[in-house]
Amino acid sequence: MIKEEMKQRLVKEAFLARENSYAPYSRFKVGAAILTTDGRIFRGANIENASYGATICAERTAAVKAVSEGAKSFIAIAVVGAEENADLEHLDLAYPCGICRQVLREFLPPSGELLIFVATSPTEYFESSLNALLPHSFGPEDLDYLLE
Ligand code: THU
Repeated sequence: MIKEEMKQRLVKEAFLARENSYAPYSRFKVGAAILTTDGRIFRGANIENASYGATICAERTAAVKAVSEGAKSFIAIAVVGAEENADLEHLDLAYPCGICRQVLREFLPPSGELLIFVATSPTEYFESSLNALLPHSFGPEDLDYLLE
């Protein structure tokens, strides 16, 4: 269970992360913040590239930052995405893309449920979950035979 206070904190962290977005091509700035089982929060922003395919989404930036710091179990992620001049008090929902959903799938917590908060303002968000956004997913357990 995550308290409302922590959900609000995570959403605010995602907005702060978005400030470091590097998106000169799409001008669509995204921020994400991941809460890990050990209580840490990792921020990430989308990082574009002149070779467009090299672009990294905000959610994956946050995920690789967490894992590379030893946090491999994600409880929740907050995401905010909008064009650079958007009114931050009234945003459309910007859900994680398919590739990011799959990357997040790799690092589920023991409960198996990763909460996803998609912000529409610094204090408002829509709550979903990875299981809802990526049902019948493929994950590490499918490769357990490799360990036998
Ligand atoms: N983007 C993200 O950061 N996360 C998503 O889940 C969807 C898309 C970024 C990638 C690119 O820099 C910009 O948004 C437009 O696609």
